[in-house]
Amino acid sequence: MDRTRTVSRFFISVFLISFPAVSAAEQPNIVFVLADDLGWNDVGYHNPDMKTPNLDKLSANGVRLENYYVQPLCTPSRNQLMTGRYQIHTGMQHQIIWPCQPYCVPLGEKLLPELMKEAGYSTYMVGKWHLGMYKRECLPTRRGFDRYFGYLTGSEDYYTHEHCAQIPGEKLTRCALDLRDGEEVASNYTGVYSTHLFSQKAIEMVAQRAPAKPLFLFMSFQSVHSPLQVPERYLDPYSSIQDHNRKLYAGMVSAMDEAVGNITQAFKENGLWDNTVLIFSTDNGGQTLFGGNNWPLRGRKWSLWEGGIRGVGFVSSPLLERPGSVSRELIHISDWLPTLVGLAGGSTRGTKPLDGFNVWNAISKGFASPRLELLHNIDPLYEDIAPCPGKSPQLTLAEEVRAKLGFNVSIHAAIRSSNWKLLTGYPGCDLWFPPPASNDLDFERYPWDPLKPVMLFDIENDPEEKHEVSNDFPNIVDYLLSRLQQYQSGSVPIIYPDADPKCDPGPDGAWGPWA
Ligand SMILES: *[C@@H]1O[C@H](CO)[C@@H](O)[C@H](O)[C@H]1NC(C)=O
Ligand SMILES: *[C@@H]1O[C@H](CO)[C@@H](O)[C@H](O)[C@H]1NC(C)=O
Ligand SMILES: *[C@@H]1O[C@H](CO)[C@@H](O)[C@H](O)[C@H]1NC(C)=O
Repeated sequence: MDRTRTVSRFFISVFLISFPAVSAAEQPNIVFVLADDLGWNDVGYHNPDMKTPNLDKLSANGVRLENYYVQPLCTPSRNQLMTGRYQIHTGMQHQIIWPCQPYCVPLGEKLLPELMKEAGYSTYMVGKWHLGMYKRECLPTRRGFDRYFGYLTGSEDYYTHEHCAQIPGEKLTRCALDLRDGEEVASNYTGVYSTHLFSQKAIEMVAQRAPAKPLFLFMSFQSVHSPLQVPERYLDPYSSIQDHNRKLYAGMVSAMDEAVGNITQAFKENGLWDNTVLIFSTDNGGQTLFGGNNWPLRGRKWSLWEGGIRGVGFVSSPLLERPGSVSRELIHISDWLPTLVGLAGGSTRGTKPLDGFNVWNAISKGFASPRLELLHNIDPLYEDIAPCPGKSPQLTLAEEVRAKLGFNVSIHAAIRSSNWKLLTGYPGCDLWFPPPASNDLDFERYPWDPLKPVMLFDIENDPEEKHEVSNDFPNIVDYLLSRLQQYQSGSVPIIYPDADPKCDPGPDGAWGPWA
């Protein structure tokens, strides 16, 4: 071996040891925009009745993710985004965190912002947290975010920023402020519409960023969750919509669209856009009870039908290698953690075993997704708390059939493998809800098979879940049941504690840590 080569080897190894895989100049800024309860049929590029020029344009110049999945509820989706792990592995497979429940994402989980920080990023968050706050250690500022402005519970008034909740044991509904700047209560924003407030805070953070560091911004909108509130001017394009809820909802979508446009503009004005990756995602399907819509998909928020979990999502960035394309690769919200840490040149060592995959090459280059299977959830305690029109279906199965199948098919669960999706138990409200219009039926019943404890759909050919085919493919059914059984045996016990009356912030307090 000649001397030059030895010397250059020496320099290469020194270089590899002393620098992260991507040098600081190359580390992209990352802005993750999460919408709340935005349905499949609630964005302009899926439904021309919705006016979302910014989302349409950003996604048209980016990559639209059309085979992209989220969880059917707020806390679970955020939990998987932050941990890269399925709910069965964090104990959070059941429902959401209610304001008085004393738990949060387990403190032993390493969260996405902590990993970004280790990779050298400034980590900022604006908006909805909903990952637990009963003690200070659970707050976003203690879990990896350098800066935070937002609210900690699941929903609130868009102007007063008050959340109302039942205090356990008391005959009392407490309405109290839920808005914080860092860990301090922010009490002087009454009357400021949250979509304006949050985008303004995000824009301020971009302007005040640490100049030497790349930026990770998690913009977690309140929009477009209920209550349905929006400044009048956003209703102008929707005078033809008769349904009152739908009209307000559409206005809220347009306000959020404008906010995304403003935030993108701030990245451009600060000279950051050329080296920025923007991800847009909803957290779950639309809630048809509050103006949302997932047509033509079946079901809605709270259900494991496609309407609950197939999410609106796209990536927009000058760094994409195939901008202007549509991706039909299987991608899940748990995939963002390894994907974004990979883009940052960081490391996921130090997390517990991940369920997510790095899908950047699938998105940017159009490669096949490394994800072949997706556990949607297993929740033995499932109940649908929102009324579903019509009769609630009865699912019963003889004990011996259940035993033969290995997996207890009374349990609410679903799994996807390539084109196949298997559902067991009651998946949640099972109707098809067309976009609301005056005097129309507000739900649709196809002449479909009655619900069964085990159902199989070919999602690629039948995304609307109209043709149940378990009888035609018994081997696929057996295989997917055995996969569910394997996941079930590796799941951790559900954390879902009783509400704690000490959560009461009192007449003048704010929701926040009490333990
Ligand atoms: C609210 O108070 C904070 C801290 O005192 C201040 O920085 C902020 O500008 C105030 N906002 C408004 C809208 O008055
Ligand atoms: C976007 O920016 C414009 C111009 O500053 C402003 O009028 C509008 O209220 C902003 N919209 C939102 C949703 O923040
Ligand atoms: C099967 O699951 C259902 C729903 O979680 C539960 O009520 C039932 O006890 C389970 N049966 C067995 C045999 O474990």
